[in-house]
Amino acid sequence: MTITRHRHGRRRASAVSAVAVATLAVALAVPAAAAGSTLQAAAAESGRYFGTAIAASRLNDGTYTNIANREFNMITAENEMKMDAMQPNRGQFNWSSGDRIVNWARQNGKQVRGHALAWHSQQPEWMRTMEGPSLRTAMLDHVTQVATYYRGKIHSWDVVNEAFADGNSGGRRDSNLQRTGNDWIEAAFRAARAADPGAKLCYNDYNTDNWSHAKTQGVYNMVKDFKARGVPIDCVGFQAHFNSGNPVPSNYDVTLRNFAALGVDVQITELDIEGSGSSQAQQFQGVVQACLSVARCTGITVWGVRDSDSWRASGTPLLFDGSGNKKAAYTSTLNALNAGGTPVPSTSPTPGPSTSPTPGPSTSPTPTPTTTPPPTGSGTCTATYSEGQKWNDRFNGTVTIRANGNISSWTSTVTVRSPQRIIATWSGSPTWDSSGNVMTMRPSGSGALADGQTVSFGFTVQHGGNWTWPTVACSAS
Ligand code: G3I
Repeated sequence: MTITRHRHGRRRASAVSAVAVATLAVALAVPAAAAGSTLQAAAAESGRYFGTAIAASRLNDGTYTNIANREFNMITAENEMKMDAMQPNRGQFNWSSGDRIVNWARQNGKQVRGHALAWHSQQPEWMRTMEGPSLRTAMLDHVTQVATYYRGKIHSWDVVNEAFADGNSGGRRDSNLQRTGNDWIEAAFRAARAADPGAKLCYNDYNTDNWSHAKTQGVYNMVKDFKARGVPIDCVGFQAHFNSGNPVPSNYDVTLRNFAALGVDVQITELDIEGSGSSQAQQFQGVVQACLSVARCTGITVWGVRDSDSWRASGTPLLFDGSGNKKAAYTSTLNALNAGGTPVPSTSPTPGPSTSPTPGPSTSPTPTPTTTPPPTGSGTCTATYSEGQKWNDRFNGTVTIRANGNISSWTSTVTVRSPQRIIATWSGSPTWDSSGNVMTMRPSGSGALADGQTVSFGFTVQHGGNWTWPTVACSAS
């Protein structure tokens, strides 16, 4: 085992590694990125998208489409791709309204979130009256047909929407779909994966923002179980409909981080916050900051363009007023995006027009060794820390593992010092000791490295005023 230690304080220790010097030199040589002047540009600085729900009926409103086109690069159909819209009569699909939105998005270089393949609500009349095995068959057929029709055009699908009960049970919502058997959700995910292997597959729900709520725990346990059993789930959508009775929770970042640690992306999918002025602006800022603190929080979608477009217009919950003017909430959102955050790992899909299906689902951003790894090894490894971006309250770090001789796998420990806390990681599978100060990182996939090969993982440290560099170590097997 080789240990490379670095300490970093106001006065830099003299024995700084070559890697750290090189990293610092690059950081100094590159001028700070210009602040993004639109939501999509500002979000893209950290590798995220910024989206909106679009209603097909408003696509001939010039003010609406101008704002939508300028500010957003991820589009969700507000109603037009739901079950009742897609299959109004059994076996008769109506693609026209969904197509209007998907085509508008793609023609303007935007990506599309599909919403939603299976849901207890907004079912067509013929489905609402069905039960049991025939409903199960009809639901799976719907998932297959719709996901197949849009194959290659969808960034992420809300495969199942709102399947958990409100309140303290933490269990499933009763519905005709739930009564077909508890496995209906995983069956829907498997059908969606088979139909469109390139789309990320999400479970989407509301009131799952507060980590201490039973509903949040219920969804978390389902996702954990799905990951353990290989059910194809890639992401969890947090609708994020907030108002005074359901405010943005102070532990939102904890919720997002804990879900992400299960090995899924997280997305804010339907954000709106009732209110006005600086109070509303602060809450939008809080949501953006929570997302940006989690590497696998890959994007934010607001549920409409102007207040007047909202499903709850009287609560003025969006970023533009009814005349299309930017609100204080717009400015706080833009500023929070421009303040930066934990970058989305570069191996995650990046925003941008997607014209063809990606070859397969990518659920884990683990770098792959460039040469065929040896099956066994007896070498050792070296862990080297290099510092990354720094902000007032946090900094990023990268650990590079280098094989000295062939190795079959590796584990690496990262030790931080109180009150530091590692709040996000990427490109590895972390576990923690009971103190929370020692993270053990293992490769997400194969850890095999040939002599001289390197692989890196990263993390974000909330430093609490202590800028000391973490101690890193590596053990080979
Ligand atoms: O388009 C018809 C119109 O022709 C008719 O005159 C009118 C009469 O009621 O209804 C119009 O359709 C309405 C549709 O919105 C379009 O405005 C439906 O009645 C109405 O039920 C529908 O509401 C949508 C709601 O989902 C249905 O559940 C909202 O627009 C939409 O914003 C909302 O979105 C949901 C997400 O899908 C899931 N998460 C919660 C979110 C907010 O409720």
